[in-house]
Amino acid sequence: MKILGIETSCDETAVAVVEDGTKLLSNVVATSLDLHAVYGGVVPEIAARSHLESIIPVISQSLDQAKTEWSNIDALAVTYGAGLGGSLLVGVMSARTLSLIKNKPLISCSHVLGHIYANFINSTTLQGYQLPTSQPEFPFIAIIVSGGHTQLALFKDYFDYQLIGKTQDDAIGEAFDKVAKILGLPYPGGPAIAKIAANGQDSAYSLPKAKVGKYDFSFSGLKTAVLRLAQEQVGENYDFPSYMLSERLNKAQKANIAASFQHIAIETIVDKVKLAVDEFKPRSILLAGGVAANSLLRESLLKSFSCPLLMPDIKLCTDNGAMIGALGGWQFKHSVGLADAYSLEINPNLSM
Ligand code: KG4
Ligand code: ZN
Repeated sequence: MKILGIETSCDETAVAVVEDGTKLLSNVVATSLDLHAVYGGVVPEIAARSHLESIIPVISQSLDQAKTEWSNIDALAVTYGAGLGGSLLVGVMSARTLSLIKNKPLISCSHVLGHIYANFINSTTLQGYQLPTSQPEFPFIAIIVSGGHTQLALFKDYFDYQLIGKTQDDAIGEAFDKVAKILGLPYPGGPAIAKIAANGQDSAYSLPKAKVGKYDFSFSGLKTAVLRLAQEQVGENYDFPSYMLSERLNKAQKANIAASFQHIAIETIVDKVKLAVDEFKPRSILLAGGVAANSLLRESLLKSFSCPLLMPDIKLCTDNGAMIGALGGWQFKHSVGLADAYSLEINPNLSM
């Protein structure tokens, strides 16, 4: 069963073909990142316009890469939320139209659930992927860490899950992006912080961990603590503008701030997962979302747990069509989220 997965919720126009929810046959991603970098974040209008230009070529390339034709595709899966309205619309309207023209079933997918299902991909015909070697076992704990979400979920079965905790304010990826901005690093901030943190001391500065509910998160206090620390380091008081900090901080200070921030942010995640593993005794742990690409997080989790830890290939951590192709396959199998091609609407605020 081959599913064509379409993902356009933010700035990536991404399409993949996935077989049986587990085998990756193609994975094509066109990003408008360069167009947003000068603004320090994603500009919704630019993202939507760029999806419009890219979506048809990306679908064609994805079919070519999978060495397959429309006649071999069993269904279309598309992200209908959460995400930017204009961006989601391009993917959903393309999928609705193709579903009608090609006469294929249409499956509506949640972006966040997609990130989790990236972990079900454990084989591929493509080169250069490091995939989990086994399938997740239920019950599992999913750690969702992205630019829009930070949450823990307990899965008893494919579509039987409960959210056990989430961020009360900023998502962890958002905190990486905001701290990067203070340090004058490019968007997206996660990879940039990780890179300079490698030259810094993670114990250089002590930063706070938020005190929130047992499985909840909060990253806005940490971000403010970084801002205050940077202001102190350049000898200014707390009304000194954040956009002027990066030119006053030296290289060592930036590396130390990045390392100290990354250390606390990652430790916060690992601490909460430890509590959840103690209480729920899962048979697997799944890591998902853009921040899952962070190597300190990957290493810290691997060190901390004995039960199988599944992590997608780095290329399948940030937004991609493969995760939607995989989720679509499992939804199709379980008859979940079969959508009407005449009426499927986007849901920018969709929660898990
Ligand atoms: O999942 P994703 O591509 O988009 C959302 O669904 O939000 O995640 C993007 C987020 C950004 O905040 C980016 O800074 C972060 O993932 N990110 C990282 C790394 N790579 C991407 N954060 C930390 N370390 C990384 N290596
Ligand atoms: Zn995402």
